[in-house]
Amino acid sequence: MELGLTGKRALVTGASRGIGYAIAAGLAAEGVRVALAARTTADVEAAARRLRDGGAETVALTGDLTVAAEVGRVVREAAEALGGLDILINNVGGGMGGNTDEAWQHTFDVNLNAAVRASRAAMPLMREQKSGVILIISSVSGWQVGGSPQYNAAKAAEIMYARSLAKELGTDGIRVNAVSPGSIMFEGGSWARRKERDPEGIATFIANDMPLGRFGTPEEIANVCVFLCSDRASLVTGANIAVDGCQLKPSI
Ligand SMILES: NC(=O)c1ccc[n+]([C@@H]2O[C@H](COP(=O)([O-])OP(=O)(O)OC[C@H]3O[C@@H](n4cnc5c(N)ncnc54)[C@H](OP(=O)(O)O)[C@@H]3O)[C@@H](O)[C@H]2O)c1
Repeated sequence: MELGLTGKRALVTGASRGIGYAIAAGLAAEGVRVALAARTTADVEAAARRLRDGGAETVALTGDLTVAAEVGRVVREAAEALGGLDILINNVGGGMGGNTDEAWQHTFDVNLNAAVRASRAAMPLMREQKSGVILIISSVSGWQVGGSPQYNAAKAAEIMYARSLAKELGTDGIRVNAVSPGSIMFEGGSWARRKERDPEGIATFIANDMPLGRFGTPEEIANVCVFLCSDRASLVTGANIAVDGCQLKPSI
């Protein structure tokens, strides 16, 4: 299927590894010019270089996206470097454990608030050109209980934010969707660390709660995201697309 993405300009947050990197790689493979953002300069530069070595046009940007001013700056820098912005992938996320104000604040900042702030910064650019795609990487934790309450609540809020924003921006030619992965295993990721600590627990998790009998891969999330970024998905907006292999529980 020809996706028609060649020459589009994208920013992917949290793109130095895992799902974000796979989305950046998937877009780059379709000829998209991609800005990758994360906190650790060496890692995000290495990720951008890997894609450049494969022939892609990439830019590496550094910033802590829990800080409001940093989010705006990163979006501005991406648009300046790429000459505009067609696609925003709000991928950065994660959580802080413990039932404290700090844990709740951090979890909302790195998930929902980073997406709200980046989308707000990208909106004027997309509105002016009367086109754009915004994706928010949520989680099955957005509607199934498991893990920390603050992560569940932040991921649920992301899904409703995507739908609300889709309503607001539809007549501007901007589509907004949430994509909700199930548990995704990759080297250096949280599930790989848990598997090392507790291989039996992971085997039980797979047997009881993963009908496909395995974890997902970052590339399986990226494939769906790349499609959603293309005009082939022109009627898909305000949706929450589960890419979870029918996972029954979000966490051990
Ligand atoms: N992995 C899963 O099983 C799974 C399942 C469902 C949903 N999700 C969602 O998918 C998204 C990606 O998950 P992942 O597992 O691929 O993430 P990850 O391995 O934790 O990677 C997160 C990325 O974000 C960057 N990052 C973290 N904190 C940041 C901050 N404050 N400011 C800027 N960049 C930051 C990291 O680089 P630095 O550390 O250098 O900043 C890295 O590039 C998240 O929204 C997550 O909630 C993941």
